[in-house]
Amino acid sequence: MSLPPPELPAPLAAAIEARLAGRTQATLRESARRLSERYRSRQPTREAIRDETDALAYAATRMPATYAAIVTALGRLEEECPDFVPRRMIDVGCGLGAAACAAATLWPSVAEISLLDSSALLLRFAASLMKESGAAAAIETIDADFATTGAIEAAPFDLVVAGYALTEIADSELPAVADRLWSQTSGALVIVEPGTPRDHARLMGVRARLVALGATIIAPCPHQAPCPLPADDWCHFSVRLARRRAHRLIKGADAPFEDEKFAYLAVGRFGAASPPSARIIGPPRAGKAGISLRLCADKAFRETFIPKRDKPRYEKIRRKDWGDPLRAPAEEI
Ligand SMILES: C[S@@+](CC[C@H](N)C(=O)[O-])C[C@H]1O[C@@H](n2cnc3c(N)ncnc32)[C@H](O)[C@@H]1O
Repeated sequence: MSLPPPELPAPLAAAIEARLAGRTQATLRESARRLSERYRSRQPTREAIRDETDALAYAATRMPATYAAIVTALGRLEEECPDFVPRRMIDVGCGLGAAACAAATLWPSVAEISLLDSSALLLRFAASLMKESGAAAAIETIDADFATTGAIEAAPFDLVVAGYALTEIADSELPAVADRLWSQTSGALVIVEPGTPRDHARLMGVRARLVALGATIIAPCPHQAPCPLPADDWCHFSVRLARRRAHRLIKGADAPFEDEKFAYLAVGRFGAASPPSARIIGPPRAGKAGISLRLCADKAFRETFIPKRDKPRYEKIRRKDWGDPLRAPAEEI
């Protein structure tokens, strides 16, 4: 089963490019520079993005990568739960709507989308981008603070997604936010965060809370036990995406692609159809004699080596990548 393409869908990319065409490159470059500076000093997005030009700089330089990470995490959910057909979804901390767009691309069944953010500027921008890119779903915007708002809506959503949003709230707010996000789903909850040690550690706190609330872990963990990684290690994944021309021009970046590192968690009121026995949690290292893999398996983390001379196992494994699930018995290693 293949993952969805990581690049922004063409209609959304075209809608962003149409808006970029109305600004000079110098203005966008300056906004992108200021945005990076504000993010480096850990300013939250609602302070870092102050006007439409800043929002466009985000659309050109960050949104393609956050979209890539989110659509990959949602792809992992779909891979494990092929019968899941969400109709109503909410994009919590939507920014410009990367998660909403990823969900609508992956599941054409999504007919109602709620966009929630505490930035009125971003909410307006996200809703108009979705309309300009021809979204078929009905769009609702909710101007609210997800860290303090009680129930977001009375009726739960089939799918709740928070993409790169929890990273902006305080540690002390995480437990209540985890409870609230979980209470808002009748199906699945997916949280995607930057792939850093800090965000992984926080996500593991949220994971423990969700398990205590009765959530079933669908991905990436192939088990429900506490995370077995040592404290100085962190579980994260990577997605490679082609850089659009606008991104290269605005950031002055030469490389035709970028690698976005992310951490994620997909949980549900149901489990995987056929839970994997292990997941590859690092880039496979191929050598002359075989392949080394970092695996999360059997409630434990381990390194394993598959020699080339073990042909049947080697042939199965060599096509696998970082993030892929392994299923017993055929791929048991
Ligand atoms: C880094 S941006 C990510 C945007 C988008 N989800 C993406 O993946 O591109 C974080 C977003 O979360 C929103 N946000 C942060 N804290 C929030 C809060 N407490 N309530 C509502 N929105 C919040 C910010 O306004 C911003 O739009």
